[in-house]
Amino acid sequence: MTSGQVATETINGLMAGSDTSSSTLAWTIHFFLLHPHTYSRVIKEVRSQFDRDHMITFNESREHFPFLQACIYETLRLVPATNDLPRCMPPGGAVFQGHYIPEGYTCLVSLSTANRLPSIWERPEEFYPERFMDNENNRRQMLSFSSGVRACPGKNLAWMQVLPTLANIINKYDLKLPADALFTPDHVDKLGNPIFMPAMVTAMTAPKYPERDCVALISKRT
Ligand code: HEM
Repeated sequence: MTSGQVATETINGLMAGSDTSSSTLAWTIHFFLLHPHTYSRVIKEVRSQFDRDHMITFNESREHFPFLQACIYETLRLVPATNDLPRCMPPGGAVFQGHYIPEGYTCLVSLSTANRLPSIWERPEEFYPERFMDNENNRRQMLSFSSGVRACPGKNLAWMQVLPTLANIINKYDLKLPADALFTPDHVDKLGNPIFMPAMVTAMTAPKYPERDCVALISKRT
């Protein structure tokens, strides 16, 4: 490898393995704060099974928190940590759904569009984690880790980071929105769903105005 390639791969690895998991964590917390019933259910699931001082492991989270896992799936579905995956057309071009795309062109695959296809997802715009409970088919259809040969090699590691981190946060801390939050459970769209904060779509689907919108009041659980 050239030194340029080493540098590129290093940056790629660092971004792919850190911003993705941390933004998924932030988005999941955001959804909890917009959906108090969901947040209460998660709190009950976690706190009813473990003592406050216990450090919850990944295996324990996987075994005991199906609803928390469903919430993470639903967050990933609505806000995939990366979007618009670039794909270079091969020599000779390719035909997609009857459209010829010449070689050398780049097509972007929109994961968030695939994750909200009305032909696959019921009430696609709604944050509804229950759709992932005992539903292996829906879990497979959630494409935020991509699929095929270029699928995310860090998927299992990402679950090992996000799931127990959230479980321990929920177990040890109370989260609440500040009084002046712009995005709240009462600020709803025409379907009655809470409007969630806008995303900035670059390489990672990070919140667009994190300093303004990613504010949560965190206090030690009483
Ligand atoms: C919630 C967390 C994560 C999500 C949603 C995610 C999603 C993705 C997606 C969609 C791709 C495919 C990109 C493409 O096809 O163009 C990808 C690739 C990749 N991911 Fe992840 N990822 C996550 C966490 C991680 C972690 C923790 C690591 C490693 C420490 C990691 C390492 C990588 C690498 C190295 C690639 C490039 C693979 C290649 O070029 O073939 N990812 N990720």
